Amino acid sequence: MHWWSTAASAALHLALLITGPGLAAPAPEASTRAASAASAGCGAVPEIVDGASRLYSTAAGRTYRVFLPRDYDENTPAPLILSYHGAGGVIDQQADLDRLARPEVNTDHIVVYLQGNADDPSQPERYTWQGAPENHSDDIRFTREALDAILATYCVDPSRVYATGMSQGGGFAGRLACSAEMSARIAAYAPVAGAYYQKQVDEEEACEPATVDIDCESMRKRNRRTSVPIMAFHGGSDDIIRYEGGFRNGACLPAVKHWIDRWVEADGLRGMPANDTIEGSDGGVIMRHGGGLVTLVYAGDDVGHAWMSRSNGDLGRQTQGLREFG
Ligand SMILES: *[C@@H]1O[C@H](CO)[C@@H](O)[C@H](O)[C@H]1NC(C)=O
Ligand SMILES: *[C@@H]1O[C@H](CO)[C@@H](O)[C@H](O)[C@H]1NC(C)=O
Repeated sequence: MHWWSTAASAALHLALLITGPGLAAPAPEASTRAASAASAGCGAVPEIVDGASRLYSTAAGRTYRVFLPRDYDENTPAPLILSYHGAGGVIDQQADLDRLARPEVNTDHIVVYLQGNADDPSQPERYTWQGAPENHSDDIRFTREALDAILATYCVDPSRVYATGMSQGGGFAGRLACSAEMSARIAAYAPVAGAYYQKQVDEEEACEPATVDIDCESMRKRNRRTSVPIMAFHGGSDDIIRYEGGFRNGACLPAVKHWIDRWVEADGLRGMPANDTIEGSDGGVIMRHGGGLVTLVYAGDDVGHAWMSRSNGDLGRQTQGLREFG
C-alpha cells in the first residue's frame, strides 16, 4: 500500500462523518493501520458518562467541551475530532451545526468543541480564531494545551486526531495544517466553507485571489516524511466567504481552488484530480488528488455559506442562521 493511502483514508473517514453517508463514492481500501497507540488516559475511569459532555478550561482560562461517544471504552483508544465554530459563534452552536455529538452521526469518536476568543473590545461577541483579520489569541497553543489534557484524561489514539471547522473555524483548521507542530499531531483536516485569510496582504489592490501567496509553514517544509491530508468543502453561492476568494475584513481570501492547489503541490501530487459528480447537486463535484489525499468538494452552484450535510436532503442546503458567521 502506498504511503498516502492511509492518509487519504483518514481524510475520507473524516469527511464521511462530516457529511453523513453517501458523499464518498469510490472509497479507498481500508487503511492497514498498525495496532492503535494508546494515550496516557487509557485505563482511567472516565470523568464523563458515555454520550455526555463536560466543559473544561485550560490554565489560561480558555474553555472547551469534551463529548464522549456512546461506544467509548476506557481501554480502547478512540479517534478524536477537534471542531471549531465560525466567527461570532460559540461551542453549542457548532455542536448543533456539525451534529458530531449525536449518536445517529457518531458513535465512536470523541469530539472536542473549542471556544474562540473575542479580542477586539469593540466587538465583545465576535469570537474568532488565530488567523482572523481581527487581533487574536494564540489558538495553536490553546489547541495544544487542550489536546495534551484530553490525551492525559481519556483513552485516545493519538494517530487518529482530526480537525474540522466552519468558516473562520475552517480557516483555523487550515492554519493547524500549516503549523509544522500541529500537522505532525493531527492526521487530517476537513474545513467547511473555510476562510483562509492571508493577512499579509492587507490592501485590496494587492489581493489576487487566484495567485496570492499562501503563508504556510507546512507547505514550505521540505523532506517531510508525512503528508497533510485535506478535504475542503465549499459552495458556489457562498457570498460570505466566496469560492473565488476576494478582499474581506482587511485581508485577502484566496480562491478555494488555489488554496487546494497549493496543498496538492506541497503534498507532492501531480496530474489532474479524479472527479466525481455529486448526485442530486447543482453542478457539485468531488475532486480527488492523490487518491483523495487532497480533496476539494465543490458542493454545487446553489450552495451558500453552509455546513455540508447529506443527512437531510442535498449536500449543504443548510444556510439558515449561518449568515453572520463569516
Ligand atoms: C491590532 O494589532 C495592531 C498591530 O499590532 C495594533 O496596532 C492594534 O492596536 C491592535 N488592535 C487591537 C484591537 O488590539
Ligand atoms: C476535474 O475538474 C477540474 C476542475 O474543473 C479540472 O481541472 C480537471 O481537469 C478535472 N479532471 C479530469 C480528470 O477531468
